Amino acid sequence: MEIIITSDPATASQEAARFLAALIRKKPVAVLGLATGSTPVPLYRELIRMHREEGLDFSGCTSFNLDEYVGLGADHPASYRRFMQENLFSSINLPAARIHIPDGLTQDIPAHCAAYEKSIAESGGIDAQVLGIGSDGHVGFNEPTSSLASRTRIKTLTQRTRSDNAHFFASENDVPHHVITMGIGTIMEARAVLLLAFGENKADAVAGAVEGPITASNPASILQMHPTVKLYLDEKSASKLARRDYYRWVFENKPDWQRD
Ligand code: PGA
Repeated sequence: MEIIITSDPATASQEAARFLAALIRKKPVAVLGLATGSTPVPLYRELIRMHREEGLDFSGCTSFNLDEYVGLGADHPASYRRFMQENLFSSINLPAARIHIPDGLTQDIPAHCAAYEKSIAESGGIDAQVLGIGSDGHVGFNEPTSSLASRTRIKTLTQRTRSDNAHFFASENDVPHHVITMGIGTIMEARAVLLLAFGENKADAVAGAVEGPITASNPASILQMHPTVKLYLDEKSASKLARRDYYRWVFENKPDWQRD
């Protein structure tokens, strides 16, 4: 794991955007795995800036989002389809036909999940997967005790996640219980993983994921088994890492040839 500790979320997001931009310039048909929530918003803002000011071109790219609430359609203000439209897709040139987000209104969830997996495979697989992390260590909506080999499927949210996400809804009672999420096995097949985590609320989950044992009780800890993971942190989310001085030194002293 590469642990990148920055002073604030904006700097961390610029670093992550730089990695994605380099990927897209090198591989214009890149397949991007995207995330929702508060965390990736500054990353998407930076990608939009790069598109407008530096000509970053998404016209050949394909995207797959991690998850969606069951029961929410594109017109619901808290649906992830709507979130992506407002925070990224309406401001870049990613073709609508190559945007994929699980359909929260599907009538046949198992068939839809199987088709989602098939479509990821047919695209050639995800080149870079953006992730946030839940305060309980979830990635996508793979809550603690999710199978570390899981594929896209329905999941039931924990009460903690429903509370964490309540600010996107009129009230906590409105947060759905069920979601469709890529599995941990699906995420682990991405060629690179970029996990962003900001704020004190994420410090325990980050410490467990990086320095704890691999356990389904902290699903992000499985990323220790992935060969290409970058964690973009701010001082607060990194505050409980025992080896943070070491990670800082490593990042600041990387040989030039190792920088993206
Ligand atoms: P957040 O959610 O970005 O809104 O904190 C992260 C997550 O639940 O994965």
